[in-house]
Amino acid sequence: MGALPLTLDALHRARQRVTPGTAGPLTASEWAENVAGHPLDEWQKAFLDDPADDQLLLCSRQVGKTLATSLRSGWIVRNGGLVIAIAPTQRQSSLVFGLLSAHLKADGADVTRATQTTIELGNGGIAHCLPGDRPSSIRGLTLRHDGPSALVIDEAAYIRETLWPSLSPMLAAAPDAGQIMLTTPCGPAGRFHAAWTDPDADEWSRVKVTAYECPRISERFLRSERARLGDEMFRQEYLAEFVSPSGAYFSAGLIESVFGGGAGVDEMFAEEEGTE
Ligand SMILES: Nc1ncnc2c1ncn2[C@@H]1O[C@H](COP(=O)(O)OP(=O)(O)O)[C@@H](O)[C@H]1O
Ligand SMILES: [Mg+2]
Repeated sequence: MGALPLTLDALHRARQRVTPGTAGPLTASEWAENVAGHPLDEWQKAFLDDPADDQLLLCSRQVGKTLATSLRSGWIVRNGGLVIAIAPTQRQSSLVFGLLSAHLKADGADVTRATQTTIELGNGGIAHCLPGDRPSSIRGLTLRHDGPSALVIDEAAYIRETLWPSLSPMLAAAPDAGQIMLTTPCGPAGRFHAAWTDPDADEWSRVKVTAYECPRISERFLRSERARLGDEMFRQEYLAEFVSPSGAYFSAGLIESVFGGGAGVDEMFAEEEGTE
């Protein structure tokens, strides 16, 4: 795949020459805004520039967590690193992967191999996307890499409990690998909830973003969603709270029926429900 004649780095260096005082290498967030082609929210920039390797993102739906994570992943791969992206279903992990691939191409990266699930760069950078509903596809993979590496888990609260044992061996021989788990909450249980609430797990950098902090989601929309969903599910889906279900249990089927047709949840459960 042909690289663009002028890379973003070259553009940045050119800009530095005409804008004295902005010298220095690109930061992750500067690179990310360039490849995304639009400004990022303050929390997205802070997340991108966070020096921590292990990050937890607990967010409302639609605030831009998948976009931010795909950019952070792209930055790692662009720097010669390895990213393995996992989500509850293949369609969901393909979403992260598709964005990541688009960022690398927008960057003019030297792509040496590109398939539906893998992208490799000439500098050793590599990304794989895998479905969380087929543990067999994960076995045998490692995050061991000559360079930075990260395991990225989108909608981590919805990953099946049975998958986690397959993930640990990937990290076994890669003590320096980072982990990025992002999700809308799904009750006070599971690995993500445990990591978020464990007071001794200080390796994690934690970011929480509610819908009210997102400039693209209006208060009017949120008022109507609260009326539509009821208080408990609204707090879970838009205030990113670990809500203990009382009367109505938030089963996958219930969430799907309420959000039916909505991008995120629909995709999350489409395979599970056999609607693809
Ligand atoms: N900073 C931003 N500026 C403009 N659009 C954004 C920004 N962040 C996210 N988006 C857009 O908002 C929508 C939701 O983003 P997404 O990352 O899928 O959210 P989430 O994973 O939190 O549900 C997408 O269309 C995405 O392109
Ligand atoms: Mg998402």
